[in-house]
Amino acid sequence: MVVERTLAILKPDCVRKGLQGEVLSRIQTGGFKVLSMKMLRLTAVEAGAFYAVHKGRPFYDGLVEFMSSGPCVPIALEKENAVADFRTLIGATDPKDAADGTIRKLFADNKGENIVHGSDSPENGRLEVAFFFSESELV
Ligand code: RTP
Ligand code: MG
Repeated sequence: MVVERTLAILKPDCVRKGLQGEVLSRIQTGGFKVLSMKMLRLTAVEAGAFYAVHKGRPFYDGLVEFMSSGPCVPIALEKENAVADFRTLIGATDPKDAADGTIRKLFADNKGENIVHGSDSPENGRLEVAFFFSESELV
């Protein structure tokens, strides 16, 4: 299998709940190598740019407001088959639909505030890692 990069973001609800360590531990136990991480607060403009693919959808404005509502923790990850394996680890977008034992099933309140982001394709994994990290920061 091919080594891929994927971007995780511990979303503002994860940080507000103090679950950064718990979620990171599950990511590392899942075999993902942490290439870099940082904590920052997105502006609404930055959050809108990151989720630009969803512009025009009914949930877009709420998503931008939520993602800029407090600090978040982007994490650049590497692993064989990282994109699909990470989405398996976090579970479905709506925690009601997420499999038992997944991060969203365990910790998320609802479809909008769902604890963690994961890239949806290897190409987007590379692009989203580059959104937050320069190549020299990937150590
Ligand atoms: P993400 O991009 O954050 O990893 O989530 P995802 O792929 O599982 O889901 P996606 O369809 O890309 O949606 C991005 C985020 O928008 C919010 N959302 N809310 N209320 C709703 O119907 C709704 N739908 C999507 C969620 O925060 C979702 O993770
Ligand atoms: Mg998505």
